[in-house]
Amino acid sequence: MATMKDVARRAGVSVTTVSHVVNESRPVREEVRRRVLDALEALSYRRNALARSLRKKRSSTIGLILPDVTNPFFAEIARSIADAAESEGYSVIVCNSDGRRNSEDSFLGMLSEKRADGVVLIEAGPPRGDTSALENGDLPLVTVDRSLPGVNVDSVRIDNALGGRRAARHLLDLGHRHLACIAGPFHVTPSGERVTGFREELCERGFSLPEERIRRGTFQPESGYDITRHLLEEDSRLTAIFACNDLMAFGAVRAAADLGKRVPDDLSVLGFDDIRLASFFNPPLTTVAQPRQEMGALAVRLLLERMADPALSPRHLVLETRLVLRSSTAPPP
Ligand code: RIB
Repeated sequence: MATMKDVARRAGVSVTTVSHVVNESRPVREEVRRRVLDALEALSYRRNALARSLRKKRSSTIGLILPDVTNPFFAEIARSIADAAESEGYSVIVCNSDGRRNSEDSFLGMLSEKRADGVVLIEAGPPRGDTSALENGDLPLVTVDRSLPGVNVDSVRIDNALGGRRAARHLLDLGHRHLACIAGPFHVTPSGERVTGFREELCERGFSLPEERIRRGTFQPESGYDITRHLLEEDSRLTAIFACNDLMAFGAVRAAADLGKRVPDDLSVLGFDDIRLASFFNPPLTTVAQPRQEMGALAVRLLLERMADPALSPRHLVLETRLVLRSSTAPPP
């Protein structure tokens, strides 16, 4: 790959002159500039991004570490982060941790070696015991979606408990009294908060949710399917299911259909996230929507502000959800 030295030799000028032309950092006589540009083109010179970053101590890249790139919720968050970052002149390196803590930590190391300017992290698993990799790392860091107990870094989340309350309120207002909840992995803080809100709303309205009506899913559609089959086979009185994400709600609808139950006539199903597919599902899914575009844009804004001023006190933003009524919920049969 041609270097600035090769270009200087071919153009018959100094490396400094080539650098002024490439970086437009100082005016150069037109005849000399033309010679340099011709040499750049002849040698197919590409500015060495890493060399540039070493000079500016920046690579104009932001890392994004997320648990499951195949989950549309994370893909849509990644899109909003990429759009916001690119509008500020940053590229985004997306890292899929597969929900594994050691993958997260190795990605943090890789991003530091590649001189990323900062990292947006959607934490994968159970709360960390040792938080040093996050708090003492050399990379400015913002977390999204999941709270990191005991780690004082900028964060953008939603009010998951209120989202769970909204789900319970909707189903109770429709008249449902035999409900179940399919939670995500219990160690994932958003799911636990949603279940808590769901239960508290029921309790405040005089209804209890028996333990056997709360099942632990994986946030994948297969778990929503399997759990719904078991719930319906165990208790024919069930008329409504709240799934803590849309993918598991899709699985629940499919399981109901395989058992000859119509949604929403025989069984109401309510999800959480409002991924783009939710409105195209059959039936279109009633769900608790997360403001994914706003979450991504705010995460990038907090990160850029942190990069500009590392001494800023951490900010913790909590955004609102909203209930999106479609046709997967209705009064009980
Ligand atoms: O669908 C994936 C779920 O995990 C979402 O609800 C999101 O909040 C994340 O925590």
